[in-house]
Amino acid sequence: MTHQLALPAYYNDLDASFAEAWNVVEAGVTDRKSPAHTPTVGTVDTDGTPHLRIMILREVSRDLRTLRFHTDARSDKIAQLEHKAATSVLVYDAAAKAQIRLSGRAQIAGNGDVADTAWSGSTAFARRCYMAEAAPGTPIAQPSSGLPDWIEGKQPKEDQLADYRGNFAALLFQADRIEWLYLANAGHRRARWHWDQTQNLWLGNWLVP
Ligand SMILES: Cc1cc2nc3c(=O)[nH]c(=O)nc-3n(C[C@H](O)[C@H](O)[C@H](O)COP(=O)(O)O)c2cc1C
Repeated sequence: MTHQLALPAYYNDLDASFAEAWNVVEAGVTDRKSPAHTPTVGTVDTDGTPHLRIMILREVSRDLRTLRFHTDARSDKIAQLEHKAATSVLVYDAAAKAQIRLSGRAQIAGNGDVADTAWSGSTAFARRCYMAEAAPGTPIAQPSSGLPDWIEGKQPKEDQLADYRGNFAALLFQADRIEWLYLANAGHRRARWHWDQTQNLWLGNWLVP
């Protein structure tokens, strides 16, 4: 007798697969143990070289097609994100048996309501990273956290953090393509959707996995 694991309801359902792709991504905001909490974010520099890095997923809006991340306004990725630059986000959730590739455009918001709310909504401990004296990636002679000595191992107070607000920025990504790969012994499933600007909706179709 062959043992067939039950297939999920979305297995052969394009709309339900789309919803499941967003479910997997959204779990990254609420569940710190979810792989979508630490997606890979890809940008391209002026030479065309791709740069990938892990970032913590802070917020997702399915309706607005947006993902929010936080970063240091002095980091190398900032220059790669000028003028709504092409950006990709990758999630592999082994338990969900799903790879999700989102691509679209991203921009950096250093000032304004979104960045202010993101800053004040972060814990003091998380915001301590932005107290680094030199920009992330600056070569140093000795190994160091880059933080001022007086704050090492301590949690900063609000008034101490205020001086460093300028080092913080939100990275706002908006998806215009989503690709779904679901792994199953019974046969993998792959689909892709793109955002249709004239109709204001997602259009999708199945692909050969
Ligand atoms: C688990 C984990 C979480 C990370 N979260 C962030 C983050 O939320 N924001 C960020 O800018 N970098 C984060 N990083 C560091 C980045 O991967 C990267 O090293 C850094 O942002 C410098 O990238 P850049 O030189 O391309 O700007 C994280 C790294 C790891 C391993």
